[in-house]
Amino acid sequence: MRLPENFIQEVVERTDIEELIGHYVTLKRAGANLVGLCPFHSEKTPSFTVTPSKSMFYCFGCHAGGTAITFVQKAENLEFADAVEFLANRIGLPMPRESADSIRDAGVPRKRVLEMNLEAAKFFRACLFDPRYGSPGMAYLKEERGLSEATIRHFGLGFAPEGFGMLTDHMHRLGFRDEELQTAFLCGKSRNTGASYDYFRNRVIFPIIDPAGNIVAFGGRVMDDSKPKYLNTSDTPAFRKSNHLFALNFARTCCAEQMILCEGYMDVIALHAAGFPYAVATLGTAITPNHARIFARYTKKVIISYDADEAGQNAAKKAMQVLGEVGMDVRVLRLTGAKDPDEYIRKFGADRFRRVLDESRTGFEYQLEGVLGKYRLEEGAEKIRASGELCQVIASYPSAVEREVYLAQAAARLELPAEVLRNSVQRIRDQQQAELRRSRSREAQASIKHFGDRINPESAKEPRAAAVEERVLGMLLLFGEYRQAVASGEVALSADDFITDFHRRVFEELLRLQDSPSGFRPELLGETFGPDEMGRIQKMEVERQGMSENGPEVFRSAIAALREVRKQKEAQKGDLNTQLAYLREKKAKLHKGKVDRT
Ligand code: UTP
Ligand code: MN
Repeated sequence: MRLPENFIQEVVERTDIEELIGHYVTLKRAGANLVGLCPFHSEKTPSFTVTPSKSMFYCFGCHAGGTAITFVQKAENLEFADAVEFLANRIGLPMPRESADSIRDAGVPRKRVLEMNLEAAKFFRACLFDPRYGSPGMAYLKEERGLSEATIRHFGLGFAPEGFGMLTDHMHRLGFRDEELQTAFLCGKSRNTGASYDYFRNRVIFPIIDPAGNIVAFGGRVMDDSKPKYLNTSDTPAFRKSNHLFALNFARTCCAEQMILCEGYMDVIALHAAGFPYAVATLGTAITPNHARIFARYTKKVIISYDADEAGQNAAKKAMQVLGEVGMDVRVLRLTGAKDPDEYIRKFGADRFRRVLDESRTGFEYQLEGVLGKYRLEEGAEKIRASGELCQVIASYPSAVEREVYLAQAAARLELPAEVLRNSVQRIRDQQQAELRRSRSREAQASIKHFGDRINPESAKEPRAAAVEERVLGMLLLFGEYRQAVASGEVALSADDFITDFHRRVFEELLRLQDSPSGFRPELLGETFGPDEMGRIQKMEVERQGMSENGPEVFRSAIAALREVRKQKEAQKGDLNTQLAYLREKKAKLHKGKVDRT
């Protein structure tokens, strides 16, 4: 669901942008503005400007810019809605109901989706336990996967029967409409007739339950080797997969000391059944910083137990990093003799798994053993390579204390003085810092030029069109009268007049907001445009503001120039006759000295 526009507006109005940004940047007053060193690129003289009267910021160096929301998005690396929530929390404004956790607006409230999910879960479970429909599912879970009936009940597992209509019919009987069922991802929509059909068919069903006990989504597994192995609920107003961990609803009460993170639903179920109820899994995605924050809320230590294959081990390294960044104590299990925890427990039993768990190594130890295992340390050259590699690993830890601890461990194993390693770690860190600074300023420079423009890639091909469009948009952003004149049709200007896609989208959104009940507000652009795009929009406005002439004549001539560019382009594309007609017209105009030069 989109956040209500008046709420976004209120958050921005009640946020003191000077005070907000003051927490990140030391600001000095300069006339009506405040200036400071830009937090988004490295610079020695301040080009970062905050304009409290307009509640905007802009950096003349790297062209970051926008509203307080844009600032928080960039500084805290948040999505738009999360940045709004961040600001709302700061000023003690409660989030509107239904919106905090939901993103897809189909007019179906989160509560309604949860009701549907609950009914669907009951239906799937009834099917699993009904021999007329569920015996293949039951046989698969019990015989092939070795689950007890108690475990099947505990996790609320179910079965989606074959055929396209059983769930759909059932839900229709309960009064749920097609549109609602499709929004909840319980039904697909037939491309021909638009009718609903069951999304999960002939699969065993794993309900995903949040810590509050809501059924937020489902995963459905085939019972053979066909593809895809799992179907999962996509984003709905009640579910975003990076916000959830499978089985957290059970783990939450017994995970204060440690949690186990695995890859698959089946791993988690096997672990819980074997007496490790603090195991969870992400929902078929790599772990995100958002997941890491969830872990940090619930536990001190995370033991990563991913699949033994290379993909699993690489994913484990990434997870180690992401979890390390929120200050977790992270450990990694390396299971041998089985492909994943599920298989390990079935083969070797719970006691042996518990022993491996107790001996689990810290993330660094795990990497240390990995590196040491690759080299023959008695050979000088190999020892040098091993120590070089370990210094790289150690240098990547942001905490100085951790680096010291690991230096000592590595030095002992390599039988080298810690001092030597310390120097080389420091050198690597200096180099990394310098490289980071260089790449940041390179990025900033590249974005100034049209060439390789990521935000408006077409501007490289259409530099003239892009430049004129920027003039027109700059004035529309600055002056309500011009927006009004275009919206009312008094000045003829339409989306078709724009050639580059980015500028066309900005124009359309401007007009849409102008016509909306809340009117045009820059912060509302943030719902449609990302923070980098917001910076570009801000740039157009700021640059236009710097021009001495922005009167109606200038506005009209900019629009005329825009038309001219478009006509020229059409003529280039068109047949010979159109091209000739265009040239003749242009020549006639030149004679009258009327052509607008831009
Ligand atoms: P795995 O292939 O390791 O699955 O994928 P698993 O849970 O161990 O299943 P079994 O043991 O083969 O039955 C790990 C996770 O990745 C997601 C699921 O969340 C799965 O649990 N996944 C995998 C999908 O979402 N879709 C797929 O097609 C495959
Ligand atoms: Mn598995």
